[in-house]
Amino acid sequence: MIIPVEWTDEGVKMLDQRLLPTEEKWLMLKTYKEVADSITDMVVRGAPAIGVSAAYGVALGAQNFVGTNMADFEEEIDFVSQTLAKTRPTAVNLFWAIDRMNRTFQTAKADGKSISEIKQILIEDSKAIHEEDIESQRLIAKFGGELLADNSTVLTHCNAGALATGGVWGTALGVVRGAVADGKSISVIADETRPYLQGARLTAWELLQDDIPVTLITDNMSGHVMKKGRVQAVVVGSDRIAANGDVANKIGTYMVAVLAKQHNIPFYVAAPLSTVDLNCPTGEEIPIEERNIREITHVRDIQLAPEGIDVSNYAFDVTPNDLVTAIITEKGVARAPYSESLRKQFEE
Ligand code: MRU
Repeated sequence: MIIPVEWTDEGVKMLDQRLLPTEEKWLMLKTYKEVADSITDMVVRGAPAIGVSAAYGVALGAQNFVGTNMADFEEEIDFVSQTLAKTRPTAVNLFWAIDRMNRTFQTAKADGKSISEIKQILIEDSKAIHEEDIESQRLIAKFGGELLADNSTVLTHCNAGALATGGVWGTALGVVRGAVADGKSISVIADETRPYLQGARLTAWELLQDDIPVTLITDNMSGHVMKKGRVQAVVVGSDRIAANGDVANKIGTYMVAVLAKQHNIPFYVAAPLSTVDLNCPTGEEIPIEERNIREITHVRDIQLAPEGIDVSNYAFDVTPNDLVTAIITEKGVARAPYSESLRKQFEE
């Protein structure tokens, strides 16, 4: 069972995902700044995992405050929150978790709690965010698992597994795990997911741990394997889902969705409601992270492209809602029109 981030008495324990699959190293983060840097540097990645980590970051910031003045404490929480919010722009779970922690702070303050009581309340709420995330993935696994046929193969892109969430299930890989838990025989085709290789390094590693059969392909093979009839469903996670059901996910997801449509293969998105951003009307408004071009020009220290070449390194793309067969959340399976079905899930 993989739980990539955890609150402990000594600090936040985090698996360094940059080193997988060759090294399993755990870090102990003692300050909110170390948590923020870990998100920026991809020690932890994947939308729900980033959200859980950010909540722990706010809790660490509160715990380490040494003053006795409530206004200074509030200023510190605000500064910590702003620092964490600057780490990565696309996964809305980050902002969702920071907002929730700030609302918890305001409620506790309005209730007349002391600084030490508020510290404890924030720690408890960050742990609750983590537990709720794992429970959401369990339900996603249950609802999504029912959609997969026995003896089928799922193609997935990036890593939307336990590593990318609070742990245990994952979103897209949660759907696979849910079907396997139901006694179905499921295998996975994992896109390697260039340039950061989350598929090759993380999805492959995670599924091998669980003895779920997995075959690794390069991203440009996905059309070919679909054409050969090797894929019965595509399941991916998401970093932000707009109110109309447009889906931001790892770069290359859009390409996979177009190919799935061409081959009449269902394209499912699995994500908790903390990934749905009702304030974003369409995918057009979702900020797309652009990352260091070295991720494309080099593999570790090996140079692949000529010095000085112009490079675009978009980390995410947006799949329009008409390519999405269904969105699986902890509330059930939402189908088009998503502007209605997603809103309804929030109201349930
Ligand atoms: O850049 P990353 O590795 O943080 O991107 C992760 C993804 O795109 C995942 O597919 C997405 O966050 C869903 S994770 C359950």
